[in-house]
Amino acid sequence: MTAPQAPPASPPSRSGDPCIMVICGAGGDLTKRKLLPALCNLAEAGLLSKQFAMVGFSRGARSDEDFRKQLTDEIKEFATSPVAPELWSWFLQRIYYLGGDFKDPSAYEALADRLVAVEREHKTQGNVLYYLATGPEFFGEIVRQLHAVGLTRQENNRWRRVIIEKPFGADLESARGLNAELRRCLEEKQIYRIDHYLGKETVQNILVFRFSNGIFEPIWNRRYIDHVQITLAETVGVERRGGYYERYGALRDMVPNHLFQLVSLTAMEPPVSFQPDAVRDEQAKVLHAIQPPSPERVLETTIRGQYGEGVIDGVKVPAYRAEPKVSPTSNTETFVALKLALDNWRWADVPFYIRTGKRMAKRYTEIAIQFRRAPKVLFRNTPVDRLRTNRLVIRIAPDEGISLRFGAKVPGPEMNIGAVEMDFSYVDYFKTLPSTGYERLLYDGMIGDATLFQRADMLEAGWEAVQPILDVWKALPPRSFPNYASGSMGPEKSDELLRNDGREWRPLDG
Ligand code: BG6
Repeated sequence: MTAPQAPPASPPSRSGDPCIMVICGAGGDLTKRKLLPALCNLAEAGLLSKQFAMVGFSRGARSDEDFRKQLTDEIKEFATSPVAPELWSWFLQRIYYLGGDFKDPSAYEALADRLVAVEREHKTQGNVLYYLATGPEFFGEIVRQLHAVGLTRQENNRWRRVIIEKPFGADLESARGLNAELRRCLEEKQIYRIDHYLGKETVQNILVFRFSNGIFEPIWNRRYIDHVQITLAETVGVERRGGYYERYGALRDMVPNHLFQLVSLTAMEPPVSFQPDAVRDEQAKVLHAIQPPSPERVLETTIRGQYGEGVIDGVKVPAYRAEPKVSPTSNTETFVALKLALDNWRWADVPFYIRTGKRMAKRYTEIAIQFRRAPKVLFRNTPVDRLRTNRLVIRIAPDEGISLRFGAKVPGPEMNIGAVEMDFSYVDYFKTLPSTGYERLLYDGMIGDATLFQRADMLEAGWEAVQPILDVWKALPPRSFPNYASGSMGPEKSDELLRNDGREWRPLDG
């Protein structure tokens, strides 16, 4: 294939609004690994306002100077490409730190004073973007306290927005409770519930691929598609997050958020426009169409697993139960496979199989659209059931691209058919620059575009579909954990789930 005619996408025409970004929980991993590198990339691309400042708000006393020193060390390690010294010194002049306990009202009074001073210094026009990068137990508390001291009030053209990290609740009830609590203090328009999967270029590209090309939409339905498979496989274990993971597990950690985003973008109807609510309305309809399974269906259509020890990339790795901060008798799942049914006209009887797991054989995320078989036997030596079906694979990570499999005649005197692939690779075509995936989301927060953030109803619809599974799994603890070796593709039962339907997961080698 030849390179595209058009130059790489033109940058957005305006920089983010002047603002102060307050990172609550700035001492944690997210700031150094993602947020700060993303801010540097935005500044480098000219998308950060010159009237920008950042305040780290976290437990633990530290001076502005100490915080700046710490970030100076960290950016060297975590920047996606080296940060120019002039750019970094520009940043350092606008970074501040405030130590405080999130439960202590006086910390928020100190924050209010600090914001006034920083605003005066950097002319940020009263706009503040709060980023809650704390543990989920603090989300409600912080918003309540900010509200109590008037720090969420929008007036005289100034805006106040709050970005909330995941996990958003641990089940349907707690997600509803958190939404209700946020709404007591904020308008829905001020709330930006983040899912970093929506920051990925290839995830956004699902919309472009489907709705900017005339040829796919007519066949994107039950008449032509047999089923859809979505895999989000990781080779990492729980790393240092054993404490968090023991409480959440793979289902809560990945399904109602990342995996359901991929399902909804794949399955949604064309929106009437690309306005935030038009897109989110269509996504929400898909989430509402996921049939919450009955207890019997849960037993038939959901598989859970936990990794035992094994070998990944030639290195021996421990079992989940031997990870730090994990109980040696833990029943927390590190793998999930589900068969989803979407109750609408487009997708009736088209199963969506989704799976995710830690310590799997290979790291990759992809959506495979499996088309129906050609109807007729035209080829004497190839019975119709041996004809390979067409399959479109959207590769989200790490090797981003799209490929289409179709049958072609194998050269020679006989009529033999082989499967060939037409392949598009993102990096070959667009020479994309490395990014953290947070750039677009932070920028959107600064210009007030909520399209790629989750609305309350979307989140609740996701939890509604997952809640029956949580209930049955809680009532029937697993008996066979650990049930897959690290370095495999999950438990045998996950393969059976598809085999029972006469299908199989797309093999690792294609
Ligand atoms: C996070 C989960 O939201 O997403 C992690 O909490 C997971 O457990 C991560 O590893 C995966 O994100 P990515 O971008 O590496 O696929």
